[in-house]
Amino acid sequence: KKTKVAVIVGSLRKGSYSRMVAKAVSGMNARLDCEIAEIGQLQHFNQDLEQTPSAEWKAFKERIQGSDAVLFVTPEYNRSIPGVLKNAIDVASRPYGQSAWAKKPAAVLGVTPGALGAFGAANHLRQSLAFLDMPTLQQPEAYLSGVAKFFDEGGKLTNADTEAFLRKFMDAFAAWIDTTRAKTS
Ligand code: FNR
Repeated sequence: KKTKVAVIVGSLRKGSYSRMVAKAVSGMNARLDCEIAEIGQLQHFNQDLEQTPSAEWKAFKERIQGSDAVLFVTPEYNRSIPGVLKNAIDVASRPYGQSAWAKKPAAVLGVTPGALGAFGAANHLRQSLAFLDMPTLQQPEAYLSGVAKFFDEGGKLTNADTEAFLRKFMDAFAAWIDTTRAKTS
């Protein structure tokens, strides 16, 4: 049986490079069944609504609960993660003690058309994942800079070195998921 990976993309824009990267990596490891779990439909988190969650909140939380692992592919906004990504994390983390994220193995892929590989975003994200008790792949780290030139106009990954690196990253993630499972079972 394949390992179900929920892929969370931290950008809502149509031409998102993060989404291109997410799509490119999704088919790279044959043991992983990767599918994007959309976050754009989630209402702003409001603690008043925790006990009466919207259908969108519920469905998203169930989606995470039903996954074996989570891959975060995110751009950097002002040296941190985009608000929409933080919102999705908060939504599926509540009510207290009923987080959908707990114990799910995770990996983080930072994406930017600029420099510095979305380092600030990836590391702010890691802080939340540590608190959420998600065992997160440490190496290789994935900070993709200058990402625009790796894709053609159709959104296809055309850079061989990047492709090789991303394959290694996804193989390491698959191995990490196995290691984590072996430890917890
Ligand atoms: C950015 N961008 C950006 N890039 C970066 O490397 N570090 C940063 O801190 C920021 N800050 C930032 C803030 C806001 C509000 C926006 C809209 C953009 C540029 C960003 O990397 C670029 O827009 C990417 O294309 C966004 O990722 P997607 O949408 O292509 O996945």
